[in-house]
Amino acid sequence: MKILVTGASGFIGFHLVKSLLDSGYIVVGLDNINDYYDVHLKYARMAELGVDQSKAEPWGVISQSSTFSNFSFIRMSLENRIELPKLFKKEKFDVVCNLAAQAGVRYSLENPEAYMDSNMVGFLNILECCRHYAIKHLIYASSSSVYGLNKKVPFETDDRVDYPISLYAATKKSNELFAYTYSHLFAIPTTGLRFFTVYGPWGRPDMAYYTFTKSILEGRPIPIFNNGDLSRDFTYIDDIVRGLNLIVQEGFKPSKELKTNAAIYNIGRGKPVNLMDFVNTIGQHLNKKARINMLPMQDGDVYTTWANTEALQKNYGYTPKIDLNIGVKKFIDWYTAYH
Ligand SMILES: NC(=O)c1ccc[n+]([C@@H]2O[C@H](COP(=O)([O-])OP(=O)(O)OC[C@H]3O[C@@H](n4cnc5c(N)ncnc54)[C@H](O)[C@@H]3O)[C@@H](O)[C@H]2O)c1
Repeated sequence: MKILVTGASGFIGFHLVKSLLDSGYIVVGLDNINDYYDVHLKYARMAELGVDQSKAEPWGVISQSSTFSNFSFIRMSLENRIELPKLFKKEKFDVVCNLAAQAGVRYSLENPEAYMDSNMVGFLNILECCRHYAIKHLIYASSSSVYGLNKKVPFETDDRVDYPISLYAATKKSNELFAYTYSHLFAIPTTGLRFFTVYGPWGRPDMAYYTFTKSILEGRPIPIFNNGDLSRDFTYIDDIVRGLNLIVQEGFKPSKELKTNAAIYNIGRGKPVNLMDFVNTIGQHLNKKARINMLPMQDGDVYTTWANTEALQKNYGYTPKIDLNIGVKKFIDWYTAYH
């Protein structure tokens, strides 16, 4: 089976590629290696996959990994409506995992256009390629942010998600609608995964756990919003990747009783953690006490996230395994070694 993983230089994409290679699949990674955060980290992830910077950097060139005979990489943007179909035609993928997107909630207040380009135009191009090149299964990243300010917990995929409070969330909800339409019109099996705050080694420098760690080490105060009264369903990267790998392996399974080939699943730990407990766990592993700067709630942020993952457990046997304490330790070990 040949799989296209978009966002392969990104945090989740990189880990997914590694896991799929270990399972013996043939994988092509795609990424535009944009500078939303430090590109050195993206190139370092690629180097781990056997594609060094000189091979990853040129646009539109497929480079063979020097470590994995079943991996190659191409630098390309999803918005490239000329080259993307050529890649699909040439490579004849069976499955597509679309993880490339403009991520981040707060940045969508500053640079809305980036979200339109990558998440809307880019996703439409992926759907068009899936339609014209007979892709057997499209798996794509949605987000827990689609639940907005919903009060009922845990969040279930049957809950109404019509009130996104950031443009990022609106684009992710739109992806689910686009995917439904393409599944219906062109019989493409699609599986959308609502990820819940993913953390771990090789993580994203724009995310709170990463900036918290940096601030604690530098002795700078950490800004904590809503006076710390926030919780997140932090999910360790290996649990996310194990879930994705299971879905690739077992193929499409409807998430509801409806006769539709568009599935939506939550994928998370299912155990929300108070933000202050999370900060203190990082502090314990760094042997340093965090300094806190309490601030009011900020725009676009949600109070809590909490995944109900029963459907994924029932259909794919997904069980999150990594506890917060172990996950944070693994992240801190990586962080201190990398930096
Ligand atoms: N990390 C999380 O906690 C989390 C939570 C919910 C949803 N998600 C979603 O999961 C996916 C992966 O997230 P991540 O944390 O790995 O983010 P990431 O930013 O590390 O990875 C995304 C990658 O996509 C690439 N990219 C962006 N726009 C592109 C485009 N137009 N064409 C080609 N490549 C492009 C970027 O260069 C980046 O390497 C994203 O869709 C994100 O929205 C992540």
